[in-house]
Amino acid sequence: MSSDALIGLCRPGFEPELAAEFTHQATELGHYGHAITERNTGIVRFVCAEAAALDAALRFDALIYARQKLLSIADLPNLDPKDRVSPVIAALQSHGGRYGELVVEHTDSDEGREFAALARGFGNALRPALRKPGWLTDKDDARKPRLHVLIHSGTHLRLATSRVGDSSPWPGGITRLRQPPNAPSRSAAKLDEALHTLLTDEERAALRHEGPNGVLRAVDLGAAPGGWTWVLLRAGLKVTAVDNGPLKDPVAGHAMVEHLRADGFRWQPPRPVDWMVCDMVEQPRRVAERMAQWFREGWCQNAIFNLKLPMKKRWDETQLCLDVFRAQAGPLKALKAKQLYHDREEITVFAKR
Ligand SMILES: C[S@@+](CC[C@H](N)C(=O)[O-])C[C@H]1O[C@@H](n2cnc3c(N)ncnc32)[C@H](O)[C@@H]1O
Repeated sequence: MSSDALIGLCRPGFEPELAAEFTHQATELGHYGHAITERNTGIVRFVCAEAAALDAALRFDALIYARQKLLSIADLPNLDPKDRVSPVIAALQSHGGRYGELVVEHTDSDEGREFAALARGFGNALRPALRKPGWLTDKDDARKPRLHVLIHSGTHLRLATSRVGDSSPWPGGITRLRQPPNAPSRSAAKLDEALHTLLTDEERAALRHEGPNGVLRAVDLGAAPGGWTWVLLRAGLKVTAVDNGPLKDPVAGHAMVEHLRADGFRWQPPRPVDWMVCDMVEQPRRVAERMAQWFREGWCQNAIFNLKLPMKKRWDETQLCLDVFRAQAGPLKALKAKQLYHDREEITVFAKR
């Protein structure tokens, strides 16, 4: 069995961006291939000669438009719906793989979501069949690769693998976090997802550590009605919320919040802060330049900001904005960008100096 392709799962409608990104990143790494996809399917296959080598070289963290990155190991079309387990076992027989977890999943397209129940049922049927010969550990084991079964249809499955730490831990790459309770807006889920997806465990834990001046301080640009501020408060930070609009409860009047009615593109902090977040709806290049200024001037140590994408040439604009940010921000210890599950026509960026 040979691996001939990387699989990327994405938000339906963003297949052209992921295809362009795969092609760009692969070329940078000296691999040549071509992307195969169809609009609104939520999946891109990047076919290339040395897919396993490319999979090892191309980090999941480096992909903006991929919610999940998998290495395809077998395509199983024309299956008999009465027995899908045997062909999977037969395909894995020659592979000799040992897996630490089984993930049965589907794309996020309208068609793909119809297979949610099948994914659950098939996972329950396949798991014992894989454990019997010892191909799957009894308990999840992060040291071994994951085996993925991607359901294309009731008669078409794809087998793939991923490495823990170089892929999403969530089926379909869709983070399933509870909406922060009492949040003043649904946007809160976006920052919550960004903190869980873009930060390492250590970086997330560091939010709660007090600095030399007590609890960490954050600025929220474009804060109203207060969802992101709420997430920062719950993480233990003190927040300056900048927005001409009103904040809602429980953020409005909160003892740890200072609300400033000011222009987020002009206002600057009287002293450096630990965190800055920005959800201002503006042209992405203007946001990227302003965010870079915060780092260049040393106004913040860490930032999470959104770049709203244009309707056309979204991959070109993404590259351009990140190039502008990189060129103007000064030295950075981390820079990650992702289109999160809660992002629609936008991406979310985490930067750290
Ligand atoms: C998408 S909403 C932010 C939602 C917020 N993150 C939350 O979780 O509730 C965008 C906000 O940016 C604010 N905004 C847009 N341009 C701004 C500017 N130049 N200065 C300050 N706020 C601005 C708007 O008033 C609006 O409240």
